[in-house]
Amino acid sequence: CGIVGVVGKPAKDIILNGLTNLEYRGYDSAGIYLNDLNGNEYLTKAVGRISNLKEKLTPDEQGLVGIGHTRWATHGKPTVDNAHPHFDETKRFYLVHNGVIENYAELKEKYLQGVDFHSDTDTEVIVQLIGKIARDKDLDGFSAFKEALKLVKGSYAFLLIDNTEPDHVFIAKNKSPMMLGIGDGFNIIASDAISVLDQTKTFVDLDDGDVGDITKDNYVIETIDGKRVDREPYVLDIDPNAASKGTYEFYMLKEIDEQPGVMRHISQDYLDENGKPVVEQDIVDAVADSDRIYILAAGTSYHAGLVGKNLFEKFSDIPVEVGLASEFGYHFPKLSKKPFFIFLSQSGETADSRVVLKQVNERHLPSLTITNVQGSTLSREATYTMLLKAGPEIAVASTKAYTAQIAVQAVLAKAVGEKKNVADAKEFDLKHQLALVAEGMQQLVDGKEKVDELAKKYLAKTRNAFYIGRGVDYAVALEGALKLKEVSYIETEGFAAAELKHGTIALIEKGTPVITLINDPATADLTRGNIREVESRGASVITMVAKQFANENDDIVLPEVDYYLSPLVTIVPAQLLAYYASKNKGLDVDKPRNLAKSVTVE
Ligand code: G6P
Repeated sequence: CGIVGVVGKPAKDIILNGLTNLEYRGYDSAGIYLNDLNGNEYLTKAVGRISNLKEKLTPDEQGLVGIGHTRWATHGKPTVDNAHPHFDETKRFYLVHNGVIENYAELKEKYLQGVDFHSDTDTEVIVQLIGKIARDKDLDGFSAFKEALKLVKGSYAFLLIDNTEPDHVFIAKNKSPMMLGIGDGFNIIASDAISVLDQTKTFVDLDDGDVGDITKDNYVIETIDGKRVDREPYVLDIDPNAASKGTYEFYMLKEIDEQPGVMRHISQDYLDENGKPVVEQDIVDAVADSDRIYILAAGTSYHAGLVGKNLFEKFSDIPVEVGLASEFGYHFPKLSKKPFFIFLSQSGETADSRVVLKQVNERHLPSLTITNVQGSTLSREATYTMLLKAGPEIAVASTKAYTAQIAVQAVLAKAVGEKKNVADAKEFDLKHQLALVAEGMQQLVDGKEKVDELAKKYLAKTRNAFYIGRGVDYAVALEGALKLKEVSYIETEGFAAAELKHGTIALIEKGTPVITLINDPATADLTRGNIREVESRGASVITMVAKQFANENDDIVLPEVDYYLSPLVTIVPAQLLAYYASKNKGLDVDKPRNLAKSVTVE
């Protein structure tokens, strides 16, 4: 979910724009509370996109203070009643919340018997609790809020308005992201800085356990027990244009097209003119000192980790285990003697990964977060951070963050291997290879019409599809399949090319698309054999094949790059195929149904 609050400036448009920028965090429903500080208040909610909320709002509804929310449902269906802001029985307090309250049922049972509830959400329990405490103990809003927070277990970013003191927004944060933006005569609170960059570039980071009283000219941050804490503002160095769509219809295509530039950027920043990796020495030493690397991630980042395994094993000569964070967190495997943990996360906020990192920290083990978001939670909580430098990624389906994650892992793998004197690392000309990758990616994005034709020919009507590949192509097959299914809703699975015949081949019918990836010299011929197996059962095969193995019948010829980096180019036509399959169906490519870009709940 995403939240925005404003105090001290006409709030409506700032909140609506901020929420629109935050739609990547969910878009099941949205709502806004406005108070004009003149005795008028307005609460409006709508199911679906922010645009639906905008349509419902009348010009009279304005405020100098306000809070807004865009929701990704966790408790209760996406309905108007379940949309935030929520309010207490007496309609004194209004609350928006991002996160999940673990003990809401217990709190309801223990403290809120007989209270009249209007929704099925965990959030309403909290605002009712604040109201009840304020009434029973005759407390001001901020004190009642802090009393309530002492009872709450779970993750939250809360914005609270007490309409008996409407020129304040009270805030609290635990395990859900929230930033305070400082303006001249106004202040803003939001889930991330990018959503309100048009208003201010000066921000204050908030930590877990912070509560705050925000007014137009001041902010007071305390612990729940009322101890003052100092949080210094800083100016965020980020280009607001980087987050705009420009002439593109969808961010996804813009971000696919940006990948050659991202590769060059990573090469420039992480390799010196002689091609030597430029990585913090402490990180290199810590990884080189380990006997096993554990890579943890979710979704697309997990798929980047599968590619990373090959890179670290080859160039750093260290065994690697790749885990889904959500599974690993509750079923830790037996660890090696000197483990090193790498967290891959575009957003740096994924709750599933945070669960693992928390335990890694409890065991005092070293960790590195590779993320696109400076100052994100996973980056702050890990021992070390490396940034992806991919620029803001807005489309829900991740593209350039995936390729950036692979490239940054390659840099680190080489750095560690060089330190350990691994011949493969020393001989690997990563700078030259990344230049080839960037050039190759450019050729592929320039040839996008061809991919559009393939999407039109094979994917317009199909219900399902498969991606197959061997070696690193298997890892890319998983990511290609995820891309296609998440944006086009075509049921797609990625398979190890030879494994398909052990059962799943039963699903191949006349016309079933089987997208086949071939980069692996060890198995190129064998994969051709797998193509014949599915073709003889009626499949329509689309081939994406490295130049050195390609023939004139192949659909997409991939530029020749080092096998270990080939995922960087192979994924580009797969991303484009997903993009066109979705766009040609008239879907909202950037915001597929049911998804959120950053999932801060487990
Ligand atoms: C969500 C997104 C995915 C993403 C995953 C991990 O589910 O929809 O696209 O891959 O989270 O996100 P992260 O920010 O940790 O890379």
